[in-house]
Amino acid sequence: MSENQSLDIFQSIRKDAFGALEEASDFETVHKIEAEYIGKSGRLTKILKSLKEMSLAERKEMGSTANALKKEIEEKIKLKKEEFGERGGSNHRDADWIDITAPGKKISRGHIHPISRVLKEVTSIFESMGFEVVEGPEVETEHYNFDALNIPKEHPARDLWDTFWIKPLKNGLLLRTHTSPNQIRYMEKHQPPLRIIVPGQVFRYEASDSSHGIQFYQLEGLMVDKTTSVANFKALIEQFFKKLFKENIQMRIRPGYFPFVEPGFEVDIKDRSDKWLEVIGAGMIHPQILKNVKLDPSQWQGFAFGMGLDRITMMKYKIDDIRLFHSGDLRFIRQF
Ligand code: PHE
Repeated sequence: MSENQSLDIFQSIRKDAFGALEEASDFETVHKIEAEYIGKSGRLTKILKSLKEMSLAERKEMGSTANALKKEIEEKIKLKKEEFGERGGSNHRDADWIDITAPGKKISRGHIHPISRVLKEVTSIFESMGFEVVEGPEVETEHYNFDALNIPKEHPARDLWDTFWIKPLKNGLLLRTHTSPNQIRYMEKHQPPLRIIVPGQVFRYEASDSSHGIQFYQLEGLMVDKTTSVANFKALIEQFFKKLFKENIQMRIRPGYFPFVEPGFEVDIKDRSDKWLEVIGAGMIHPQILKNVKLDPSQWQGFAFGMGLDRITMMKYKIDDIRLFHSGDLRFIRQF
């Protein structure tokens, strides 16, 4: 091989290698080019390996040119690899790289929703007074939500509860409009004396405003015994408010109408701006309801109530719009 020929080879290897590296646009390609030129059987490596068969003069001349070129290519490859994310010869990409000297990130804890807080407190107060917590389905039948509660089809009282019906309509399924169906469900299976509370979500198909949502929490209460009276109900609710608000709040009981109680009441409490806020619907269980669950009204009597947990929570935490509870707005929830 003449000197000029050998220099030509180096020229062309150099041109090819640099051309390819210049065009390479990812790490894998650079890796391939590395193998092609300076890998174990790369073009340049082969020449370097053949040096030992050459004369001393040739070896000197070719060797130094080949080595210089190898260095040049190696450097270019290193730069390219860095560009595509290899660091310091290890196989880790940028994304995997961890700065162990960086200060730790604060782990943020979730927040308990104010309604959950109040629900917990309310149930523990009732439990302390001998009530048991039970639950019922959110998708209810027309039978339990209405008929068994003395609200047959076409009864005008159905208008009190605008209803989300589940299609197809003929199955009579709906989103429960109140927790009262659980009075029936429970009394069908349990004999008095009994004391239960049933917390849960209820749904109403109506326009919403700052004190009405289409979805809210109720807590049903039910107590049946031989002599359970209105006086017992009043005492229970007074005690309950005292324990929950830890201050004397003003409360009033006025007549109200619900087809499954007789007489029926509504309970209001006075809010901070001196306005009466309706928080409970209640009454003495209607004799027909007792008959519906095969209890003898001449032997058993009791009261039932349905408490609006959202409104109680608003009162306790001074929240002025019921829609905030289900808004999903984290700025709201982070305050609690
Ligand atoms: N279920 C009634 C309502 O949602 C409230 C209620 C419960 C009234 C129990 C009387 C007895 O409006």
